[in-house]
Amino acid sequence: MNNETRKELTAWLEFYQELGIEGFYRRKPTTTGSAPILEAARPPQPMAADPPKHALSPAPTRTATAPTPTPLKPAVPPVPVTAVIRPPMPVVSLFDAAPARRSGPETLEQIRQDLGDCRRCKLAPTRKTIVFGDGNPHAELVFVGEGPGADEDEQGLPFVGRAGKLLNRMMETVGLKRQDVYICNVVKCRPPGNRTPETDEVEACSPFLYRQIEAIKPRLVCCLGAPAVRTVLGIKEGITKIHGRFYDFGSTRALATVHPAYVLRNPREEKILREDFEKIRDFLQGA
Ligand code: URA
Repeated sequence: MNNETRKELTAWLEFYQELGIEGFYRRKPTTTGSAPILEAARPPQPMAADPPKHALSPAPTRTATAPTPTPLKPAVPPVPVTAVIRPPMPVVSLFDAAPARRSGPETLEQIRQDLGDCRRCKLAPTRKTIVFGDGNPHAELVFVGEGPGADEDEQGLPFVGRAGKLLNRMMETVGLKRQDVYICNVVKCRPPGNRTPETDEVEACSPFLYRQIEAIKPRLVCCLGAPAVRTVLGIKEGITKIHGRFYDFGSTRALATVHPAYVLRNPREEKILREDFEKIRDFLQGA
């Protein structure tokens, strides 16, 4: 191992120690047929997009634009993914969302409790209900949308309006059951008029999203639409370009697809969503 690699690995290990992670495990081979790798110890790799603005930077930053990761030598085999992304924002105290250091993993209930009657951003005064998330706390698949709409704000549940019905239909098409997955959003409160969440709102709320994903530890995170892709993967490239690709995301994988609301506005694009859902199915089935 050369000095450069040693330095990167040390930075990453310190980073994970700060998060309270003390051990690493070898993941089972995935659909893409990759050999197991030490996920948590993998240093950041070159990619085309900037990292999430909110990300702490304990490890060296990415500067190159090559789309494929450079393998570690000699122990770590190459990972057949489009890019390797820095893990999500850690749970340290960037915002007052940070939990006290705990000995074991957090539960969704603890995260919800910590969120409380949230007033951390300017969405609070106009929301009716905080839409925390819904579904199986042990899901293999987590969907991340943008933010609650009017129906979700009324009912306190994600994706229960028209976009939610399309999401349900897509899941059914590929044999996924809603009760088996977990669904949440980048922001937990409805932006007025269903506008796109603003940067300060995303910064205030996204630590809770990262903690939810960390608590669930799904095999795959599916980002629905550009705000989710930006928040989870830090990718600003157009979603129609990068959809359907698998990315490494900490110790899990992530895939981007178009938002169901976009398909409702552009029915001809339903093919994109359907094909990406087929990829999700194949991934989960280990094809
Ligand atoms: N759109 C979203 O992004 N999230 C929801 O919960 C509903 C619609």
